Amino acid sequence: MYQPDKVEKVCKECEEKTKIVYGYNDSFFKPKLKGINFLQLGRSSMITNPITITIEFLYLVYSKIRNAYQALMKFLFPRREKIMGHNKNTQVVGNITFARKADIHVPLHNMRCELWTRSWWFSWRKLGDCTSQRDGSFVIEFDLRAARRFTNRAIQFEIHQHTHVYYKDTSVHPVYELFKTIKIPKKDIIGMQYSLHTIQLFYWEYRDDAPVPRVVIKDHDKDAPQYYAQGRQDAFIEQVTPIELTKIKHMEQLAFAPETITMESLQNDYPENLTRCIERELPGYTRSDEWMGKRMMNGMNRAYFEPDENDKDCYWVKYYGVCRYAHNEKFALPTAKMKFRLREDGLPMPIHLVLIGPINAFNKDPFQEHVFTSDDGDDWQHAKRVFRVNGSFTTELDEHFTGTHLNTEQYAIAAYRNLRLNPIATLLQPHLKEVVLINHSADQLLLSEFIPNVTALTPDGINQRTRDVLGMQDWANWQPMEPLNEIHTAARAEQLFWDVLHKFVGEFIQDNLAEIRAHWFEIHRFSEDLVNHAVPVFLSDIDMSELPDEQRELAEDRFDYYSKQYCFDTTVTRETRDGELKAVSPITHSDDFDEDNADDEIARLHHACTYMIMVATYLHTWINEHQYEQLGEVLYSCGGLRFGDKERGVIAPESDLSISPGLARASQGLWFGNILSRTEYGFITANNENDVNPKLIEMLLEKEEEFKALNVDVHSIESRTNI
Ligand SMILES: [Fe+2]
Repeated sequence: MYQPDKVEKVCKECEEKTKIVYGYNDSFFKPKLKGINFLQLGRSSMITNPITITIEFLYLVYSKIRNAYQALMKFLFPRREKIMGHNKNTQVVGNITFARKADIHVPLHNMRCELWTRSWWFSWRKLGDCTSQRDGSFVIEFDLRAARRFTNRAIQFEIHQHTHVYYKDTSVHPVYELFKTIKIPKKDIIGMQYSLHTIQLFYWEYRDDAPVPRVVIKDHDKDAPQYYAQGRQDAFIEQVTPIELTKIKHMEQLAFAPETITMESLQNDYPENLTRCIERELPGYTRSDEWMGKRMMNGMNRAYFEPDENDKDCYWVKYYGVCRYAHNEKFALPTAKMKFRLREDGLPMPIHLVLIGPINAFNKDPFQEHVFTSDDGDDWQHAKRVFRVNGSFTTELDEHFTGTHLNTEQYAIAAYRNLRLNPIATLLQPHLKEVVLINHSADQLLLSEFIPNVTALTPDGINQRTRDVLGMQDWANWQPMEPLNEIHTAARAEQLFWDVLHKFVGEFIQDNLAEIRAHWFEIHRFSEDLVNHAVPVFLSDIDMSELPDEQRELAEDRFDYYSKQYCFDTTVTRETRDGELKAVSPITHSDDFDEDNADDEIARLHHACTYMIMVATYLHTWINEHQYEQLGEVLYSCGGLRFGDKERGVIAPESDLSISPGLARASQGLWFGNILSRTEYGFITANNENDVNPKLIEMLLEKEEEFKALNVDVHSIESRTNI
């Protein structure tokens, strides 16, 4: 037995000791990675050769000179807002739409359009401006004589996009960037009107080849809808370098001297995590029932405890396995249902585990059941590990990647496509930026290369599963997890953050009500894009009566558990579009603010915006920053266990390395865990890009001590999902 006082002391000390700190002493000739987009799983795009580092340095010098030249040009030839000419006798007209085949009839509203001329000595003169209308049409009226003046060299029509905002003191400033330029020959402007006809912009387009709403990124360096902030890139490069070097070392050892590397040595090369630290002081404690209860309740998983219908003080945590998804035959992923009983102090203690599905390489019956209880000695320990691994995998794929990354992307695309003049753009943009970029990187690295090689799911299986789980995510009536009791600090902190956010968003809406109502059209377009591109509600597109009984029961059980886990209100009336019952509820139904239902309109907007920010900030940060605790020791937990070649399969001790990941995959898993946990950047309170509303920071800091009492550091909550 472990002494409670000693346990608490060791756990606290290890939490402090293994707490991730950010920072790395960079120096010129140290190897570097070029950026987030250059991460690779097996190989490395690390620059290690001094000549290459020098060339890279020279390129950076060139970039700086080029930027300085551009800044000088801007200084010498400023673009003044004053409009030339007084006689508005001529017009440039046209129409702006999206460019994707399915979108060419969808107008782009409220885009800033400008008409400029440039003199022979390069100075800029503005001829006129406007914003595109709801139907995408635009008219810029200007003075023909001013435009055709002999000193003018050229005329150009420009479309500017609203990219981001920044705060100076407490006032917000929108930033517009040039998106499209069309040169107009001066000699062609002769009559009363010059038509540019329809201009199709390839702007935040939805992908046609993805099962969930995703944005098109043709080239992440040259043709992405947005780019990482420079500070984010720099922080990433600094923090990732030592981790990348460790992985390179392991890959070379495995290729040229495999006898020099073992699971233990590999593990020692990466920073110590929480479980390894505790194990040194309290051997076996992190494999105990008590530790499992603590981690399920307040660790990375923050599991949903479903009350047992018959047993008071008993709860179930369920991690669904391969189900009907495409999978390989190498890795085990049975459905794992653990029953917990609350101890006197409120801690859930695991007492009974049911594994459903194959646990060895021989019996493939998908509905075979194996039951283990806390009286089963070693087998209980081994079975708990299967539960732990399944829990880590489903928390990562279902809750982290789907519930926060993909969920946020669907709101980000719809927001950037539609919100420009409405103050809600200012509210949401700082929290929705960069998610599409990190998701783009995840496509290749995580979903195609890593997960299919360390777990049971194939790339097709991952696509099917993420679509299903996204079908259980909706803002309507969403509420944070309800605490089981006082010691359920993860749920209590979540509730506290939601309360702060709800108040902040409510005040923001009240402060900007007139403008929000005036530009309600944008909210409607945002809502329509969101609903039209949402995935169907889980199971709504399959004929349940055609499923075999066992499959149907499993599917119904999942739907029921997910609806509570993700707080998906099944009583909400959702909309059917193109024959699909859409998972995301509309925020509004009208182009103009519905005065007759003003309270309802505002309440829906208030709740939806709070939810979007909650998911992109707090919910994402929670899993992201706790990953290394849960997945920083391969034999404690990993993405998946192999069946191995013995009849006992995965019900085997940690010393049986035939079921744990191979050494290459083990190193890659730790590399991933480190990268994701250690390269966070863009914290709310640090406000690295001055784009977080100072009011939100103030409100969070007011609650700093309350959060601290619940083991949450307000300074570690990220303002957006970008890793
Ligand atoms: Fe993440």
